[in-house]
Amino acid sequence: MNRQPKVYVTRLIPEAGLQTVRETCHARVWEGKLPPPRDVILREVADCEGLLCLLSDEINGTVMDAGELRVISQFAVGVDNIDLTAATARGIPVGHTPGVLTEATADLTFALLMAAARRIPEGVDFVRDGGWRTWEPLGLLGAQVWGATLGVIGLGRIGTAVARRGRGFQMRVLYSDPRRHPELEKELGLEYVSLEELVEQADFVTVHTPLLPETRHLIDEGTLRAMKPEAILINAARGGIVDADALVRALEEGWIARAALDVTDPEPLPADHPLVRMPNCVVVPHIGSATVRARNRMAEMAAENLLAGLTGERLPYCANPAVYERES
Ligand code: DGY
Repeated sequence: MNRQPKVYVTRLIPEAGLQTVRETCHARVWEGKLPPPRDVILREVADCEGLLCLLSDEINGTVMDAGELRVISQFAVGVDNIDLTAATARGIPVGHTPGVLTEATADLTFALLMAAARRIPEGVDFVRDGGWRTWEPLGLLGAQVWGATLGVIGLGRIGTAVARRGRGFQMRVLYSDPRRHPELEKELGLEYVSLEELVEQADFVTVHTPLLPETRHLIDEGTLRAMKPEAILINAARGGIVDADALVRALEEGWIARAALDVTDPEPLPADHPLVRMPNCVVVPHIGSATVRARNRMAEMAAENLLAGLTGERLPYCANPAVYERES
């Protein structure tokens, strides 16, 4: 019988992928609800060839050097928790799960947009707290979504899927991106604008860039002050793109009307954080990809990447393709 490669899996993921990993590898799985502590990861990878990790695990050169890793497979599309440069320098391919969570995340983005616009969480609290005593002509007035202006920052897969939803609501859709997308402009009737123009004109500003050094705090005090006072900010990308302290002030002082966040900085946010407590901010716990369908497919892809790396094949979904150029 062939020797099974040792792998460490940092959390229970759907059986759709985990079962394959267990059948083909000698897998140790961290079954805790919270992420494994750093010393546990360092200890566990010491004799492993493969690591299947989550966005809540910081995977840097120290972790990579703690073992003889041949592959790192991330159960997510975003890989900002992994030092890709360090992985590439060490010849370790890093897998991720692009594509399969696009529509789920775009759905959630739009759900957040609608929830903030129409003040759904406030309405739910109002009813639960016994406040609903009659129909109120002036109660819980929100913003109309249909026909409003949507500003999409970052027209990648998810940004495009959100833009499509916006067009379904007859919205004027502006986008900013490092590059222009003429075909999508034509197909969807999108308008390419600068970030400054976008934040000045949009009723809803939605963020869909990866977290990179150049996008950290892209939404800062200056950006928030440039937005309309009735504007709503949605972030379902990465928390670090928005300066959380500036956002607290923006919501407290009325620079913008409301925000809806699936991601925060730090993450998780403590329950007593101002953004959690404010009535004009909706916070949900990073659930953009949390549909059964998306998470099952993510698990399958993570397993495919892991197994490919262990057998020395090119990863089907590789986040650092430069690792292969380096070898040739
Ligand atoms: C990702 O995949 O990067 C999401 O944030 C979680 O699914």
